[in-house]
Amino acid sequence: MQILKTRDELQGLLAQARRDGKNIGLVPTMGNLHQGHLALVDAAIKECDFVLATIFANPLQFGPEEDFENYPKTPESDYAKLEQSGCNVVFEPSVSELYPGGLDHQTQVTVPGLSERHCGVSRPVHFGGVCTVVSKLFNLTMPDTSFFGQKDYQQLQIIRKMTADLCMPIKIVGVPTVRENNGLAMSSRNNYLDESQLLIASNIYTSLEQAKIKIEKGERDYPALEAQAIEFLTQSGLKTDYFSVCNAATLEPATQTDLHLVILTAAWLSPTRLIDNIQVKIIN
Ligand code: PAF
Repeated sequence: MQILKTRDELQGLLAQARRDGKNIGLVPTMGNLHQGHLALVDAAIKECDFVLATIFANPLQFGPEEDFENYPKTPESDYAKLEQSGCNVVFEPSVSELYPGGLDHQTQVTVPGLSERHCGVSRPVHFGGVCTVVSKLFNLTMPDTSFFGQKDYQQLQIIRKMTADLCMPIKIVGVPTVRENNGLAMSSRNNYLDESQLLIASNIYTSLEQAKIKIEKGERDYPALEAQAIEFLTQSGLKTDYFSVCNAATLEPATQTDLHLVILTAAWLSPTRLIDNIQVKIIN
């Protein structure tokens, strides 16, 4: 597995792969890899014959009060995991390699509407930063397919829309969330939690499952369901940012006639903010 740090090296290697007729799969990450990331690499290996993972903690997608400075960095163990999983190349640029003109006057890509609700309310700069860096990575690597976790469901929908709106000829694949035995979604931010907090955090998935079961049993009063879930999370020691039953495509509040729903939630276990979601298909 090659580890590349510069755009020139990367583009040279990818040009050769393309000349060789290889189908290129891109797995963008911010590093500190866990089983959830490796599931993206596995999916890429199944579908593509040349797999590139990127490791880049993107400063543009963190707000001023957020954890950019402390974001966990574990390059050696990341390389070992990627190598073992069969990844062909890792691109790990510095901030100045990806943003040579600095961050202040960087052209930004934004997806209006979808980016403004849910996580976008408490993280107003986040999705603009994500779309900007993902666009840069797409332009640099021109992959056939790119892989993103369903754990970041809103991000996945935003990237799908960005790709379609900007006519980017890239297939976007959403890969199912990988969970701990107690249901907690794997996340680099779980590293901030101690044993007892990890147990408390598993109630996030419990709240989603409980809501899903109620909907499957016929409950359609979604605001009431949301209120019950927030009460459950509060009792469990979590501070809810939002808990929303939504249309799975538009992420608008679900209506009585929607058949494919996603329940999105974010909660604080101070000072750590965790997100998760669950999809519900209503069969009449
Ligand atoms: O999901 C992530 O890890 C990041 O938002 C991404 C897509 C790698 C962009 O920095």
